[in-house]
Amino acid sequence: MGLSIIILAAGQGTRMRSNLPKVLQPLAGKPLLAHVLACAEELAADDVCVVYGHGGEAVKAAFSGSDVRWALQAEQLGTGHAVQQAAPETPDANMALILAGDVPLLTSSTIQKLLGATPPGDMAVLTVDMDNPGGYGRIIRDGGNVASIVEQKDASEEQKAIREINTGVILCPAAKLKGWLDALRNDNSQGEYYLTDVIAMAVADKVTVHGIKANSAEEVMGINDKKQLAEAERALQARLVDDLMAEGVGFADPARVDIRGKLSCGKDVFIDVNAVFEGDVILGDNVKVESNNLIRNSQLGAGTVVHSNSHIEGATTGNNCEIGPFARLRPGAELANSVKVGNFVEIKKSTVADGSKVNHLTYIGDAEIGRNVNVGAGTITCNYDGANKHKTTIGDGAFIGSGVELVAPVEVGPGATIGAGATITKPAPDNALTIERAKQLTVKGWNRPVKKGS
Ligand code: UD1
Ligand code: CA
Repeated sequence: MGLSIIILAAGQGTRMRSNLPKVLQPLAGKPLLAHVLACAEELAADDVCVVYGHGGEAVKAAFSGSDVRWALQAEQLGTGHAVQQAAPETPDANMALILAGDVPLLTSSTIQKLLGATPPGDMAVLTVDMDNPGGYGRIIRDGGNVASIVEQKDASEEQKAIREINTGVILCPAAKLKGWLDALRNDNSQGEYYLTDVIAMAVADKVTVHGIKANSAEEVMGINDKKQLAEAERALQARLVDDLMAEGVGFADPARVDIRGKLSCGKDVFIDVNAVFEGDVILGDNVKVESNNLIRNSQLGAGTVVHSNSHIEGATTGNNCEIGPFARLRPGAELANSVKVGNFVEIKKSTVADGSKVNHLTYIGDAEIGRNVNVGAGTITCNYDGANKHKTTIGDGAFIGSGVELVAPVEVGPGATIGAGATITKPAPDNALTIERAKQLTVKGWNRPVKKGS
């Protein structure tokens, strides 16, 4: 039987107290809805439909590249009404799986369990036992199967004592669902069309409704406010770090790391506290990331060490490089093997070949640096003339003294030495010393100015 997924994402999310629609709130660097869509994708359904409403255009725009169908729910009249907006386009022969856009930690393996436990033609509800079930719909069982779901606001005291709740994940034959949706009424305490009312209708139609329990309450937690968002963030981070530790990655403290994207690691990688990884980050074997580092969309070669407090974005390094402390690698920084980039050094859109060192207080932009070059402290490539960017080329084995300005476009030849304090505007020839400095002058008998009136 084919599978159609309907994701409910039209709710306002008032409790977020945010201008951003709830399903766009970020979790591990991606909108809540992206996590649900990723789960849906793993299930390889025939079609995925997102019911959107509040902040709709922004939600659609955020997922413009994705292969989903959008159904507008202009007014939020309840979860049943939301499904009604998507159902007409759902093939009758399929099973319809309803997910919520604000339940981002749900895994496809749990859904597979639900699918596997539901014979064709039957229905299933994903449930979970909660110590504190307040606010959720309660599962009423009869003879083992689900008889109905009662919303908290409509529940009797006896029903409120039930700890098994509706996670909102429901699986049922699409053709039958359409009939039940048509029969929904809103004569309940909230005046809403409850999707949950279809369960009792299914039972009346002699459809078996299986209540399948999720593995943990955490996996099915719904996100309604910033506190729950933060809880989900920690839970997801713990899951990501657990997976990496299982692969052999070492963490000084699994609770003090954040992965907002995909972190791929080789063998014997070690990550110290407060490291933040964003986008796609690849760390080779034996890479060590010290404390307080941000690494975004970068690839670091085997044996590379990132010392504390560095900021790395869009950069690549070869093997055995040393970066930081307090270094900044910006997009297009490409370091070859055994390159050293020290404290307060910024490198942008530049290549640095094997064995070169840029150790202190330096800006390298739009440059091509050869092998075994030593760039002295306080060197600046003056790459910008106020209108255009220009290139600096430094040949293999060159030595740039401290406090040098290389006014681009400019070339320093292989083996060249530039004396400290020079402002280089013309090519500096190979294997020669180039100095650009006024002669040192001493004025004898010169007196320092004194403060007026003293
Ligand atoms: C719903 C269930 C409840 C369950 C709980 C799990 C119903 C009637 N109740 O309650 O049994 O325990 O989820 O979290 O279904 N939405 C729309 N359009 C609407 C209303 C909601 O798209 O008109 C979406 C929301 O964006 C959200 C999802 O549906 O993603 C659930 O809505 P929400 O209001 O949070 O559900 P509850 O009333 O808490
Ligand atoms: Ca509600």
